[in-house]
Amino acid sequence: MNHDPKDSDLMPLDLSYLDASKAPKERTAILLRQMTLEEKAGQLMQITCMKADPRFEDGKATGWIYSRMSDEERHAWVISRHGGSFLHVLGEEIDLIQSLSQQTRLKIPVLFGIDAIHGHALHNGATIFPSQLAMSCSWDLEGVREAGRVTAKEVSADGIHWTFSPVLCIARDTRWGRVNETFGEDPYLIGELGSAIIKGYQNDNLMGEDSLLACAKHYIAYGESTGGRDSYDSQLSLRKVREVFLEPFEKAVRAGCATVMTGYQSIDGTPVTANETLVRKILKEELGFEGFVVTDWNNAESLVTQQRVAADLLEATAMTLRAGNDMFMNTPGSYEALIELVRTGKLDEAYLDEAVARILLTKFRLGLFEKTKAKVEVANEAHLQANLELTRKSFVLLENKNGLLPLDKSGAKGLKIAVLGPNADDVKAQYGDWTFFSHPFPKDEPAKRPYYTMLEGIREVGSRFGATVSYYKGCDIMNSEDQQIQEAVELVKTADVIVAVVGDCLDQNGEFKDRANLDLSGAQQPLLEALRGCGKPLIVVLVNGKPLSIPWVKAQADAVIETFNSGMFGGLVLGEILFGETVPSGKLSISFPYHSGQCPVYYNQLPGWHGSKYMDQPMEALYPFGYGLSYTHFEYSQLRLSKDQYAIGETLELEVDVKNAGKLDSEEIVQVYIQDLVSSVMTPYKQLKAFKRVFIRAGESCAVTISIPTTEFYVINGEGKKVVEPGAFLLMVGPDSRDQVLLKHQFEILK
Ligand code: GLC
Repeated sequence: MNHDPKDSDLMPLDLSYLDASKAPKERTAILLRQMTLEEKAGQLMQITCMKADPRFEDGKATGWIYSRMSDEERHAWVISRHGGSFLHVLGEEIDLIQSLSQQTRLKIPVLFGIDAIHGHALHNGATIFPSQLAMSCSWDLEGVREAGRVTAKEVSADGIHWTFSPVLCIARDTRWGRVNETFGEDPYLIGELGSAIIKGYQNDNLMGEDSLLACAKHYIAYGESTGGRDSYDSQLSLRKVREVFLEPFEKAVRAGCATVMTGYQSIDGTPVTANETLVRKILKEELGFEGFVVTDWNNAESLVTQQRVAADLLEATAMTLRAGNDMFMNTPGSYEALIELVRTGKLDEAYLDEAVARILLTKFRLGLFEKTKAKVEVANEAHLQANLELTRKSFVLLENKNGLLPLDKSGAKGLKIAVLGPNADDVKAQYGDWTFFSHPFPKDEPAKRPYYTMLEGIREVGSRFGATVSYYKGCDIMNSEDQQIQEAVELVKTADVIVAVVGDCLDQNGEFKDRANLDLSGAQQPLLEALRGCGKPLIVVLVNGKPLSIPWVKAQADAVIETFNSGMFGGLVLGEILFGETVPSGKLSISFPYHSGQCPVYYNQLPGWHGSKYMDQPMEALYPFGYGLSYTHFEYSQLRLSKDQYAIGETLELEVDVKNAGKLDSEEIVQVYIQDLVSSVMTPYKQLKAFKRVFIRAGESCAVTISIPTTEFYVINGEGKKVVEPGAFLLMVGPDSRDQVLLKHQFEILK
């Protein structure tokens, strides 16, 4: 129903908000004061043309039923309901909707958003980078920033203005379905990588034609839900939220992130979407966030239908806006609700004005009224090269017994490589979540080239050295009945080396897909054991969305390479690493458990656990945070500090000698951890506070210097305040988070 007042009742328009020479704040004020209530309500709506209604089976949400909005409905959303934003629109529909927006009274352009979270991956043919989890193992801030830049150019070329990225969730329970979308388990590393990709997306000046609005999500502590259960409640105090989860968002705000998304989850019984303390007070007032907040998918209505903290959509809509959210993602009913709430005096129109102002200010800052599509060819040579370089830095060598790898290039002529496993030739598994395969709805369209599956990459690089490659899938990844193990054993009889590519698949990662059992699924384990029994060198390659509990692989494989979801060039890089054309330099951004029952197994644990371990599991992680091998090895010595006592606010300067004691040039990721030896609240055994990726030639040594402001050594005290407490600290520097490899030096913060 159209509530709009007749144009004749309205004042003549002051069109000076269209004057691009005016400051964004001035343009916002001029436009806002001329808007009707309906136009304001429309600006707060983000609409999807692809309707996805949750599918319930015996009362449980088990997925989505997809249907397409009719042309008339879509037209009505732009013309009669003044829709301010659409998401997941691609192709000519973007131009159609945008041209409709220019037929409206105020001609406010529609803001298009999409989940371009590892490249413009919903666009088949664009540059598809490694997933966030994969790229985070590069610890390469410049490479991650460049991935953001490339993504921004390719998304902007489609006429889309906003990506719902980066995910700043902290993946501390790997049973959670969305671990693949995160930068791992550490707040500091996530904050650094998140800031880097935000700067890549938004460029230095949002006004550039290829600048893209970033979106820090999912605010806040999503993924910390009890039991790793997606969107469930987490038992966190506000102090704990500040201590562990706020840092990445603080850094995102400091990096100028244009938008923030509130997640589905609840904290201690209050949905974050309805939590005014977290959204309005902490994010907007305390951190000074000036952009706008968008809810996740239909969060407002979930307050009624799922979390039952609102009796109806009217109440939920008012609650959502009052809490500090500005835009409603896919809660169409909130349009009428907003109008009715204001008309009946139940909601002060000032709440709408604040939200509309933030959205309009962002649109003006982006230059949306003047913006044209970036003229760039997707997946051009420069973009592909940036992808390849980041992928090369993202792989993690977890085992290399007796120096099996790299395979000897000079002797590779006639080398027979048998490649097996369900993920050896599966681009869908390799791409992971949030690609055209999975969104805006699941489909199986063939992926456009270029890309290399693991098999194709081994063939490509192996052929350069005369190796021959045979392949057999050997088993299914989910169905344990579906196995051809005898045939697999037959195949490897004539092989010189076995490469088994295992892991998980798209059906085991993402929303609604938490796992209680992190073991290799299907018949992967029996396949591996049969291959081990053939007595040939066994290289296991992991293609997976999250750490899996693979103690047998660690014990029995001769070499293990973690690739996670490695994007277009994963196979090529694997081939390069197998033959030593690329030296592996990645380090884990997330810990692996021996057993899913060991979760959470993150490295920065608090002290106090009686026995520090489960009776039936080792104390340490299967593979710890920060861990990764190389084809060379680095020796750390002579850790020294500028001084041993610091006033609060001074900067600690450290230097450590790192020697490349091997035969191959490579990069090393030097990591710096601290422990607060006595604190007013318990603090972790160690916390990452700095890192540096350094290139060191074979045989050479490098004095690595790193500075850390002592303000970084804060605690969140019992009153929830961020304070640096004087006293003794332990500085630890080394190649990963294991105590036994870290150089240690005590220092003091003075009163
Ligand atoms: C999804 C996700 C969120 C995504 C949004 C739009 O449900 O939770 O990360 O950005 O909806 O696709």
